[in-house]
Amino acid sequence: MAGIDDEEKRPEIYKKIFNACEDWGIFQVVDHGVDTSLISEMSRLAREFFALPPEDKLRFDMSGGKKGGFIVSSHLQGEVVQDWREIVTYPIGNRDYSRWPDKPEGWRAVTQEYSENVMELACKMLQVLSEAMGLDKEALTKACVDMDQKVVVNFYPKCPQPDLTLGLKRHADPGTITLLLQDLVGGLQATRDDGKTWITVQPIESAFVVNLGDHGHYLTNGRFKNADHQAVVNSSYSRLSIATFQNPAPDATVYPLKVPEGEKPILDEPITFAEMYNRKMSRDIELAKMKKLAK
Ligand code: SIN
Ligand code: FE2
Repeated sequence: MAGIDDEEKRPEIYKKIFNACEDWGIFQVVDHGVDTSLISEMSRLAREFFALPPEDKLRFDMSGGKKGGFIVSSHLQGEVVQDWREIVTYPIGNRDYSRWPDKPEGWRAVTQEYSENVMELACKMLQVLSEAMGLDKEALTKACVDMDQKVVVNFYPKCPQPDLTLGLKRHADPGTITLLLQDLVGGLQATRDDGKTWITVQPIESAFVVNLGDHGHYLTNGRFKNADHQAVVNSSYSRLSIATFQNPAPDATVYPLKVPEGEKPILDEPITFAEMYNRKMSRDIELAKMKKLAK
């Protein structure tokens, strides 16, 4: 993204971003302006957290309906196969870090700085995409009403039999846009042919993988894809990734901002983001039940 503020270089950078969003909905950005030492500090502290003894991590156990904290795996009710991962998550929007681990020391402050930087970058990306759609550059951010942010830190332990499981099952993110940091181990894969082929996203140091979620897909009337992705694990290395989800407010409207002439709106009617999310989750739970019955 170096040169994005330079009038001469901008068109080329914009073009690459639109093409990536139209083709895949997932791509990597480098030279994005987020300080690399902040990125490595965030990753180092995250790794230190997962290396703590279970009793330290379980002080932040989020099972039982808590809004944030630590959990081993993350599975929909009734699912046969769980994800091979540990996570720490928290909706950062209200800046209440009481459910964010206080160990290792300093992690809360670094998380705050990191999330603010990522928010800025995400808003920049949304400006670019709004302009690509021929809209006011704040259009996509405004459609989120009060943009919410959720940080999810994934730790995938080494797995003795990686062929039998996944670190994170195939999904598309529900929100507007996600900025993901991954370490150099690799394991993130994306598909655009319904899972027939999976392309591994080659890790690049300090780059962000940017992907659009369902909300971003609907707002653009499907012009920009919401890439399905998954994370595989391996038997030699553990892996760390940090996803920052930029989501609209629960009562924000989900509906295309612009429907090109000759096209139909991708949604029958406007719904709220909360409703869109509930429909997605109940669909996934139904699918999981069907898989279980088929076993
Ligand atoms: C995610 O989809 O949130 C994480 C994927 C990854 O760990 O690479
Ligand atoms: Fe994801």
